[in-house]
Amino acid sequence: MHEHTESSFLSPILELNNIEVVYNDVVLVLHGVSLSVPPRGIVAMLGANGAGKSTTLKAISGLLGAEDGAVTRGDILFEGNSIRGLEPDLIVRRGIFQVMEGRRIVEDMTVIENLKLGAYSRPGHPPQNDFDEVFNYFPRLKERTGLAGYLSGGEQQMLALGRALMAKPKLILMDEPSMGLSPLLVQEVFSIIHTISVERNIPILLVEQNSAAALRHADYGYVMENGKIVLEGTRDELVNNEDIREFYLGSGGNDARRSFKDLKTYKRRKRWL
Ligand SMILES: Nc1ncnc2c1ncn2[C@@H]1O[C@H](COP(=O)(O)OP(=O)(O)OP(=O)(O)O)[C@@H](O)[C@H]1O
Ligand SMILES: [Mg+2]
Repeated sequence: MHEHTESSFLSPILELNNIEVVYNDVVLVLHGVSLSVPPRGIVAMLGANGAGKSTTLKAISGLLGAEDGAVTRGDILFEGNSIRGLEPDLIVRRGIFQVMEGRRIVEDMTVIENLKLGAYSRPGHPPQNDFDEVFNYFPRLKERTGLAGYLSGGEQQMLALGRALMAKPKLILMDEPSMGLSPLLVQEVFSIIHTISVERNIPILLVEQNSAAALRHADYGYVMENGKIVLEGTRDELVNNEDIREFYLGSGGNDARRSFKDLKTYKRRKRWL
């Protein structure tokens, strides 16, 4: 049905099969989400506030438990093996690293100390070469010797990404790396993400509300609404999709003004079916 990219012929590194997530034993938030991430490239997950994007990432990384959430149905396969219900640190050891929303760096530690934290799951002290690699992608970080709390928002995001690199992960999950960054910095951060994915050969599952920026760099994408995947496709399929253009890229339609009748169509179409 879809025009698949070359990499999607390879067996996926990550597969979600029909997962359901419940918070506090009662609140059903994900209603049977299925998706797959090929072993290379960037997969974007788009969707409005509250759609369930972060919940999906936390279900994968095992961080739901900390929020009284649980996967109550379906399975999560990483390299063909189920990781559903594993403790977060075991999932990190398997090779999945999540860059949390809001760049959770440790503010009263230095850049180097924060980077070391990224490598906590690997034995021994990380070699200098690993730090050099991070500074190669983020040269600005090398000059910042004070506490991470004094870094700018963009630098903190770079540090959060650098920390992920230190883990030498097989898969990176990224939650809204564009959040709070100026448009120019969004461009810069996304192109570094893209470069990292290609050069280090690390597939990335990228959650974003900034659909335009995400689709510029993604190979494939999913759209989530109300805890369900409502649309998926290659980057080209998505950027050419009329609904995506209208609701996510803000570029559909030529009419400057819309009547209420149009608004009704809008609402109907927004249900995708
Ligand atoms: N710990 C929690 N306990 C109860 N409900 C939660 C919890 N975390 C999230 N939710 C609810 O689950 C739904 C999905 O939230 P989620 O954070 O996954 O959305 P999101 O797509 O990441 O949104 P955003 O773009 O605003 O970050 C929301 O209705 C939210 O209120
Ligand atoms: Mg979120």
